[in-house]
Amino acid sequence: MFVSDCLAVNEKNHLTIGGVDATEIARQYGTPLYVMDEGQIRKNCRAFTSSMRRNYGENGLVLFASKAFCCKEMCRICADEGMGMDVVSGGEMYTAKSVGFPMDKICFHGNNKSPRELEMAVEFGVGRIVVDNLEELDRLETIAAQHGRTACILLRIKPGVEAHTHEFIRTGQIDSKFGFALQTGEADAAVRHAIALEHICLKGFHCHIGSQIFDMEPFDEAARIVLEFASRMRSETGYVMQELNLGGGFGIRYTESDNPPRLDQYMDSVGACLHECCKTLGFPVPFIYIEPGRAIVADAGITLYTVGTVKTIPSVRTYVGIDGGMFDNPRYILYQAAYEAVCANRAGDPRDAVVTIAGKCCESGDLIQEHTHIQPVQPDDLIAVLCTGAYNYSMASNYNRNCRPPVVFVRDGETRVVIRGETYDDLLRADI
Ligand SMILES: Cc1ncc(COP(=O)(O)O)c(C=O)c1O
Repeated sequence: MFVSDCLAVNEKNHLTIGGVDATEIARQYGTPLYVMDEGQIRKNCRAFTSSMRRNYGENGLVLFASKAFCCKEMCRICADEGMGMDVVSGGEMYTAKSVGFPMDKICFHGNNKSPRELEMAVEFGVGRIVVDNLEELDRLETIAAQHGRTACILLRIKPGVEAHTHEFIRTGQIDSKFGFALQTGEADAAVRHAIALEHICLKGFHCHIGSQIFDMEPFDEAARIVLEFASRMRSETGYVMQELNLGGGFGIRYTESDNPPRLDQYMDSVGACLHECCKTLGFPVPFIYIEPGRAIVADAGITLYTVGTVKTIPSVRTYVGIDGGMFDNPRYILYQAAYEAVCANRAGDPRDAVVTIAGKCCESGDLIQEHTHIQPVQPDDLIAVLCTGAYNYSMASNYNRNCRPPVVFVRDGETRVVIRGETYDDLLRADI
């Protein structure tokens, strides 16, 4: 009935998440509110970890791309599920460190890591630094030398595969701010430079071809291209890639019209391709990392809002004003991300009204969804926007000096706050 398995309708006709009545959760914690089902998060983690094991035995590690949803409790869950994490900033690294996350299971990304962030990574003993460019490589060599350490790195390669939801092409990817291009010889030069550096240990390569990808072929194609590159580097330089990070980007179901493969299907497809390719090239199967973000958390989350106003403009549209907006979910205003919405207190009724859900920010574009189907709603109704577990809290802001909402987790029929809601005093915290 809903896009996410953890949602249902109870005997009161209310939406439930993880078996708990959403209207009760809203009554207890207020709105706007992020709610996430821990069971669904763990189920998604296990879909990846078990298929990783099936395809690569102990020779692989699932890294949660923490940019999708970073907080202490999520780091604890990843550690508990035996996963590593991908971080892209000093802040994400610091969050992981603060809960004692095993730093050797962290991969540090970024196209312009600051010297301070690189130093932090070396000092914290981050497992792999994914080097993006030659300036960074030299900077890291200097920092590692100063600390008397060796930095283990992967080089980020642009495989030249550009993935879209329903197609892929092999050109154009050269125009990306991330990584070393294969076509220009930049990647070759980076390998030769890295293996000559004293405080750098080149473990292998990384590639990430995009996000919300529904086809499996681009993943297979990227793996094949990077393996062929590794094989060529072996014959030209003697360097043998030991590790391959295939990135994230596995598509998920945001709306009923989305029809992505199951998580294990992605893994099995690229696994089969990779084994076959290694066999053809006579190349040892490398240690594999993958970095799913949204596929771990998106469908575990909903955002609850209270309707404040309903403004019908005859022959134009109906605006439903909610108590949140682009400050808790900027994805529609950023790239017209699609979401489904449900009236949580009449969740089983037909969704036969068409409305525009408008946020409370002082921007005409502050919309959560336009012309979307929902039950007819009125002031004080509770709206749930579905599949908001990824890139909502992590992209939230204090625009218009709104407070970021709390995040509540549901587990075994119980709820708990994992990130408290901000107060007005929090807004003043950094002001002088
Ligand atoms: C390098 C890298 N890895 C992993 C991810 C996670 O992508 P997704 O959340 O689509 O799985 C991203 C997303 O931007 C990324 O840039």
